[in-house]
Amino acid sequence: MRMNWNDITIKSFVDASEYTGFHKELAQYIMPYIKSSGSFCDIGCGLGLIDIYLSKDLEDITCVDINKNAISYLEKSIYDNNIENIKCMVKDYKEIDTKFHTILISFFSYEDLEYFSKRCDRLIAIVNDRSTSHIPISIKVMKEINQHSSKKLKNLLDENKINYKYMPLSMEFGQTFINEEEMVKYAKSYDNGQEYDAIYNHIVKNVVKGDNVSYYLPYKKNISIFVIDFNK
Ligand SMILES: C[S@@+](CC[C@H](N)C(=O)[O-])C[C@H]1O[C@@H](n2cnc3c(N)ncnc32)[C@H](O)[C@@H]1O
Repeated sequence: MRMNWNDITIKSFVDASEYTGFHKELAQYIMPYIKSSGSFCDIGCGLGLIDIYLSKDLEDITCVDINKNAISYLEKSIYDNNIENIKCMVKDYKEIDTKFHTILISFFSYEDLEYFSKRCDRLIAIVNDRSTSHIPISIKVMKEINQHSSKKLKNLLDENKINYKYMPLSMEFGQTFINEEEMVKYAKSYDNGQEYDAIYNHIVKNVVKGDNVSYYLPYKKNISIFVIDFNK
């Protein structure tokens, strides 16, 4: 599951996260399930937005992502916030050969459960649930998103008799825009060749005035947080 991280996608993702508090809230939900002194790794960490919040309460965090633009952004956030307990790696997760107490995978493929069971005692998986989208994206992309749905993960865990608990949540994660130029750039960043008009028109039709921001495209994201214990 690759994400195209560039200046535009990074800015819009960070703006949405700051405006809605999405990643801050996620950090609060998962913190009780992470041992403060145990080793912790976020695989497919992206911009590390959850990790910046977790770093206040954890001794040591390892962040791994295959995308160097995402890790460069995270390294800058770490520097700007004077954080000393996050270590970053540009890496394919399959190259990790250490074991951690807890691994977090947030909107990341969980298919390789056997791999994760060898790399940690506890896996926290944040996954899409009953997925809809905030913009009219193609059926192909929607299928990719739903490939990693909570229903599929539940079945996989049940089939393999693995112990888990899960929390279904509905959280606001809409998109802010300063002006129409940003809407155009945003629509283009999601366009796979034929969808630009549909995405742009959808944004223009559905944006509302936000708090301290010109435009806000509201969206409730349905997710589930799974806490999976391999050794229970
Ligand atoms: C949908 S994003 C999720 C980012 C972040 N976890 C979040 O919740 O905001 C998936 C991330 O996985 C990364 N990724 C994809 N394949 C990977 C791999 N084989 N190893 C490490 N990271 C990978 C992508 O670069 C992207 O940043």
